[in-house]
Amino acid sequence: MDNLFHEQFFHQKSDDRLNSRQQVYLMCPPDHYGISYEINPWMDRMNQPDLGLAREQWYNLVSNIQEAGAVVEIVPPVPSLPDKVFMADTGLIDQNRFIMSRFRYPLRQLETGYAADWFRSRNYQVLEFPLGAEESLESSDVAPFGGCLVAGYGFRTTLSAHKTLSRLVQKQVLSIKFVDPRFYHLDISFCPLDDRRAIVAPAAWSRYSCELVEKLVPEPLVLELDEAMTFCANAIIVGKAVIMPSCPLRVGRILERWGYMICVSPVSEFIKAGGAVHCLALDLQGCLSRSEAEIQSQRETGASMETVLQIQAEETFHIVKE
Ligand code: ARG
Repeated sequence: MDNLFHEQFFHQKSDDRLNSRQQVYLMCPPDHYGISYEINPWMDRMNQPDLGLAREQWYNLVSNIQEAGAVVEIVPPVPSLPDKVFMADTGLIDQNRFIMSRFRYPLRQLETGYAADWFRSRNYQVLEFPLGAEESLESSDVAPFGGCLVAGYGFRTTLSAHKTLSRLVQKQVLSIKFVDPRFYHLDISFCPLDDRRAIVAPAAWSRYSCELVEKLVPEPLVLELDEAMTFCANAIIVGKAVIMPSCPLRVGRILERWGYMICVSPVSEFIKAGGAVHCLALDLQGCLSRSEAEIQSQRETGASMETVLQIQAEETFHIVKE
């Protein structure tokens, strides 16, 4: 299937189904995917993905997202950018603004320009993070929870960039320090489910950061190291469906008890580059803004705000002391 064809195919579908509450994901086909450099511990140039299988897994993920009720929009791949499949890394969406990631490694920096062109063509305002030369901020290190942003630092994002993020989007940022390079992005160790629940992998964080998350998340699903290593926290939530690359039995039982439907969408070939389901699909509803329904339910319960205030009271907000 050539690119033009699948663009038309998916656009047609999205136009049919688009409405204001519709979840929409931006994805890039793996035509030029491969491991041509090593910038995280999962990547090994001697362990190349099977490209046929990668393609199959990618299309299967597209179908699973669509079947769960969301729309998938496709952007074209670029031959010299093998990691461009990981669209979620390219930037943050804040309503009609697309804020380009500042990748730590120059090898990935050209990806953001291509994403920015797509957003400009859809009338988004495109912004760059006003960061210094030594600073970086990758969007997969940021996730909304309980009215604030959880943001990781240590491998791809610099702590100093959290301040800029907070100023730019006018939200409080809870800074989490990573200690294990296998969990180099926040989306491998933290997956918000709703206003009270999140899948969390404390093995990835400093002890102090673990305490912060414990205070922020009223009902965490705490992963053991071996569970977290399956990338099961690298999931996307479409309505009540949790689309995840694998689902350890214990994790599945808890999610089901909480009323979620589990959809396992294997992406072994992408894990070879250190990415899975969440990395492959950029959520256009905004990494930053939550759905109206969530905001409404928070207004009704007030629960999450209480947690946030509690943390503020300990004056540890914004920037974590070590
Ligand atoms: N090879 C890519 C990198 O190291 C993988 C990115 C995966 N993305 C993610 N959100 N975890 O940058």
